[in-house]
Amino acid sequence: MKFARVKPLDAILATAEKKSLHRSLGALQLTLFGIGCVIGTGIFVLTSAGAQKAGPGLMLAFAIAGAICIVAALCYAEIAAMIPVAGSAYTYTYSVMGELLAWTVGWALVLEYAVAASAVSVGWSGYFTGTILNEFLGVSLPPWLAAGPLALGGAPGGLINLPAMVIALLVTWLLMIGTSESAKVNAVLVAIKVTALTIFIILTLPKAEMSHFNPFLPAGVFGGFGSGIGAVGAAATIFFAYVGFDAVSTAAEETRDPQRNVPIGLVGSLLICTVFYILVAAGAIGASPSGGQPIMGPGGIPFPAGSEELARQCALPQYSQWLVCSNEALAHVLREIGFSSIGNMLGIAAFVALPSVILILLFGQTRIFFVMSRDGLLPEKLSTIHPKWKTPYIVTALTGIVVAIAAAFLPVGQLADIANAGTLYAFMMVAIAVMMLRKAEPDRPRKFKTPALWLLGPATIAGTIFLFLNLPFEAMIVLPVWGALGLVIYYLYSYRHSHLGQGRVEVHETEIEEIAPPIPGVDDRAPHRGLPDQT
Ligand code: ALA
Repeated sequence: MKFARVKPLDAILATAEKKSLHRSLGALQLTLFGIGCVIGTGIFVLTSAGAQKAGPGLMLAFAIAGAICIVAALCYAEIAAMIPVAGSAYTYTYSVMGELLAWTVGWALVLEYAVAASAVSVGWSGYFTGTILNEFLGVSLPPWLAAGPLALGGAPGGLINLPAMVIALLVTWLLMIGTSESAKVNAVLVAIKVTALTIFIILTLPKAEMSHFNPFLPAGVFGGFGSGIGAVGAAATIFFAYVGFDAVSTAAEETRDPQRNVPIGLVGSLLICTVFYILVAAGAIGASPSGGQPIMGPGGIPFPAGSEELARQCALPQYSQWLVCSNEALAHVLREIGFSSIGNMLGIAAFVALPSVILILLFGQTRIFFVMSRDGLLPEKLSTIHPKWKTPYIVTALTGIVVAIAAAFLPVGQLADIANAGTLYAFMMVAIAVMMLRKAEPDRPRKFKTPALWLLGPATIAGTIFLFLNLPFEAMIVLPVWGALGLVIYYLYSYRHSHLGQGRVEVHETEIEEIAPPIPGVDDRAPHRGLPDQT
């Protein structure tokens, strides 16, 4: 029976026990790690798209998405602390719901990690061209090199987003040669991001005008399922600003006293980000001369963010300076209210810090592919380790090339929405897995237990489905299409090559952490520790 291929939890845990990662992380490091993974393109760039969907209601959108992420995080934490192995939601599902569903989760995680990495690359490109090239070097990239084609939602005259493609390839290269990011570098980057956002809030809030918040909900709270507008439509998009927190749960195994520190790290980082995001949104909307209002189309409905129509409107002189048209939302607001140099400094902060988010996302993706190929569901060649760099270089290179191509042609908003669709599916499956496992194995020791699981579990499932249904239809449809493609591959290849299907239940002597660089930003283990014995 296909559904009966459940990977025994004991085998997974035995693999985990073979690892000798020292438990070094405390609540503060975990929180810093979470903030490092989370703050990125979502707040620095997608603020514009969020405002186009909800106007000042963007503040409400950040609160809705943040609340859903916090409940999802608490579910994630239980299973992450209990099954502390690489592969995240994919591995959890394998042990609870079986191979087929695990495959769908692993497949959906490609959207979370790889597509999100493309989105952050495009976000970075906006700051690179706006701040570094235009403001500092006085150079303008020809439009055809600065954005994807209009037909795909890029800018008029756009053909290829060269900076986005280059940064994705550069980060891929760094990962291939074994570059990681130490906890110290992560702490510095977190400080840069948090300082930039704090200065933004301090400078913009006193200049906020109450009239800019009126109307507060120009597109309503609920624009209709699949419309992607209104406050909940914006919540579904700026959910992206929280994507990445699950990386904290993957560090659960390296945490001291996980029962206490994992939830503090997860909820703490998400709460801090939520407060920052709401204040930044308030400052941007309150201070921006356009008031963060959407550009309305026929029938008083906002033009869809990232659409060809909106790009044409934004090319008109009367709208070109509107917040909703900016590719570097936060720097743009500061420049508009007379703080050009500080706006440029914020642009530099984004330029410096966003590549580390790309690194963490790409790393997460290669790790999941690695585990899936080690399970036989993807060709084992993919998990080949480079003899010198000690990294899974083939899968890293292939992933990076695809990420770079997506970044070259698609706009940030669309990429973020697609990433959100995959992430929401994975989070829902994790919540289901946690509840099923509680029922099936109530006595198995848990290092952390989700409080009030019978409330928070269903709340996570309902919240993720709700946000999913509020994504724009084009993004929503990607998930079933991607899923169908995944199923074809599963039945043509993975089903037959699965190690579990062949009766091989493996306890791996090594985890990827021991042969590849450590999780970026988590700790300072030496990246190259040599290949393990292959005997
Ligand atoms: N949350 C991350 C960002 O906003 C992915 O860039």
